[in-house]
Amino acid sequence: ASGPLVDRFGRVHRDLRISLTDRCSLRCTYCMPEQGNEWLARTSILTVDEIVRIAGVAAAAGISTFRLTGGEPLLRRDIVDVVRRLAALRSPDGTPVELAMTTNGIRLPELLPELVDAGLARLNISIDTLRRERFAELTRRDRLDDVLAGIRAAQAAGLRPLKLNAVAMRGVNDDELVELVEFAMAHDAQMRFIEQMPLDAGHTWDRAQMVTRDEMLATLGRRFALTPVPGRGGAPAERWEIDGGPHTVGVIASVTAPFCGACDRMRLTADGQFRNCLFSNQEYDLLPVLRDGAGGGTDLAVDDVLRSCIAGKLPGHAINDPSFLQPARGMNAIGG
Ligand code: GTP
Ligand code: 5AD
Ligand code: SF4
Repeated sequence: ASGPLVDRFGRVHRDLRISLTDRCSLRCTYCMPEQGNEWLARTSILTVDEIVRIAGVAAAAGISTFRLTGGEPLLRRDIVDVVRRLAALRSPDGTPVELAMTTNGIRLPELLPELVDAGLARLNISIDTLRRERFAELTRRDRLDDVLAGIRAAQAAGLRPLKLNAVAMRGVNDDELVELVEFAMAHDAQMRFIEQMPLDAGHTWDRAQMVTRDEMLATLGRRFALTPVPGRGGAPAERWEIDGGPHTVGVIASVTAPFCGACDRMRLTADGQFRNCLFSNQEYDLLPVLRDGAGGGTDLAVDDVLRSCIAGKLPGHAINDPSFLQPARGMNAIGG
């Protein structure tokens, strides 16, 4: 087949999130247990050649934005090579694809110059708190200073827009929203607050404990004048201009205001599975095609797996259904 990746609900897919590893240098309580998860088998992890091949087929099918995720993508030893080769891909009309990354920031000071040279265009960095002890408790690692150095490196490198992500958590960091916004503005970055989703390894998510979009807006609205920014498209974040601009703050309300109707995303796991949704319970395995010659082992066979994945996509997640079941894979192995 050829042509754009349209699902049964008319959504055109243009965004592929590629998880490069399930490992991470932090152990955020909402993502992984202290000892880590049972890691993916090394032999199943895609090589850079395999990733580039899959991405090339995706680009030919209309994927124009690629985002590298993890775990922590900067733990891949071949990360600069991955970035260089993916950034060189082109859409069918000849325009270069956009290559972005979501990271915890820790290795940015050493790696960023090479990554920018290799073609990385945009960065989102996770930072849930600015307080050292709180950070150490939440991530189980005393590495706030490394993350802050990573954010400064990103600001200095001039990648724009630079986005900072915080999952808002009751009794953990919900008293810090204003400080985080002020910190982001001081670094010329866009702060974004995320409603916690039921994707933690411990299955401890509790709707009643979740800080909602409306609560976040109430807190921010007491300090800042917020003006909605129109034209969100398929972006997960709703945005507001702060005190007349130019800075903005975003809220990603996947639970109380899902954006599934405009979803243009799909995912590739580090072990070669396509997923059509964060919450899907089905995966579309590329390893038989890549490694065992299934379907002739051709790019067309890769494209077939891609299109089956899109064809199987449901209208949205079912977090709000009483019968909701968390996917078997944890966030660290899906990539957010
Ligand atoms: P931009 O394209 O720069 O806006 O990035 P992003 O927000 O799509 O990506 P990022 O990796 O920074 O993710 C921020 C938050 O949005 C994380 O909590 C992700 O899990 C969540 N997120 C990203 N894509 C999706 C999605 O398709 N569905 C849902 N429900 N959440 C998503
Ligand atoms: N709900 C919402 N966001 C999450 N993230 C990790 N786990 C969750 C969750 N359960 C965020 C990270 C990072 C991004 C990739 O996803 O904090 O910013
Ligand atoms: Fe798309 Fe699934 Fe995210 Fe909804 S939950 S926006 S369908 S990936």
